[in-house]
Amino acid sequence: MDFKNLAKQYGTPLYAYDFEKIKSNFLAYKKVFQARKSLICYALKANSNLSILAQIAALEGGADCVSIGEVRRAIKAGIKPYKIIFSGVGKRDDEIKEALDSEILFLNVESNDELLRIEAIAKKYNKNARISIRVNPDIDPKTHPYISTGLSENKFGIEIEEAKKLYIYAHKSNFLSPIGIHFHIGSQLTELEPILQSAQKIASFTKSLIALGINIKFFDVGGGIGICYKDENTISLYDYAQGILAAIKGLDVTIICEPGRSIVGESGYLITKVISQKQHKNKHFVIIDGAMNDLLRPSLYDAYHRPNHLSQKCQKNTNDSKLVDIVGPICESGDFLAKNILLNNVENGDLIVFENAGAYGYSMSSNYNTRTRACEIGIIHNKAHIIKPREELDQLFENELEGLAIFEDILNSRG
Ligand code: LLP
Repeated sequence: MDFKNLAKQYGTPLYAYDFEKIKSNFLAYKKVFQARKSLICYALKANSNLSILAQIAALEGGADCVSIGEVRRAIKAGIKPYKIIFSGVGKRDDEIKEALDSEILFLNVESNDELLRIEAIAKKYNKNARISIRVNPDIDPKTHPYISTGLSENKFGIEIEEAKKLYIYAHKSNFLSPIGIHFHIGSQLTELEPILQSAQKIASFTKSLIALGINIKFFDVGGGIGICYKDENTISLYDYAQGILAAIKGLDVTIICEPGRSIVGESGYLITKVISQKQHKNKHFVIIDGAMNDLLRPSLYDAYHRPNHLSQKCQKNTNDSKLVDIVGPICESGDFLAKNILLNNVENGDLIVFENAGAYGYSMSSNYNTRTRACEIGIIHNKAHIIKPREELDQLFENELEGLAIFEDILNSRG
């Protein structure tokens, strides 16, 4: 990618995504599961830009959504409703109703209470709710504690014994069809063993459900494999798929997988520009125009996104390397994008490009400090296209103007 030209043309901070990479990552998942019926439901939470979803739709992919907003996005981008699943620990009644109306494939149930609410809503509107239950296998995924989900101490899923009771209940209900089973133990998984142990545990549970006459048709293995940000060992997609295929041997089910990070992560770059620099006693700060509101992962998880320094000059003075912190303009000490990085001869106006920023980058961005969100571009067939323009400051105030007018009246009338 020609980052310098892209920065010149579209400004910074700028997210750029390589659509060929997204395509090949997605097709790799389809390929490894091709021995069985499978549905790859891209996890929108990683990056829900409509153009990225349209790419997934064109590859006949499905969608894993965690809000009705994501369901609407998926449908808008052309993903077929019968390939959409709706997960999440707190679905509101109106979201459940709309999901049922939209005829999505199924809802992933997270609790007894939610199951009863789905049943009541289905009954009220005389519908049949297709469901899957998210089972918590109680296995340590060995990832960052904030993105670990498969332990009983986490808020997600239902313990096996309780899940069994819920399946039996749903099976008897006139308004529920339990057609799937789901587990997801965490994100950024770099060890295969915990996933395979979970798959085996859930597969044998599925067999016991089928023995009870409960017709489980979909075996949903949750999110995808981790990616390499720095020097992590990653899981081979082939080994991962082979392990899952072995676990479900003898079960007549369609595999569902919900990868997010491994589809879009490597495809994305955050391009930023050096605004200023300052020196404290023991520390040199490089201040860029991107910040924690653009890419939260370093502040939130201490995550590493390799920063590449692109100097404006052709020749670098290699004698002037410094250990620096790369920070943003936000008023928080936690506003850093990289710490203790060796950079050469940095000058204001140089570019710093952060790698592997395609997943949980833009989708976790915010307007904190009244900063506009970055521009997003997609690169396809060697051409760049804006897939979301940079926000304008006026857009940030727009929704508040009506309230402002009312408040100004109230404040003025009180004298
Ligand atoms: N399915 C479910 C039910 C999930 O909760 C997640 C991620 C996925 C699929 C997608 O997992 P992936 O293939 O991307 O690993 N913000 C954090 C990641 C949070 C992930 C939450 N769930 C980060 O920036 O690392």
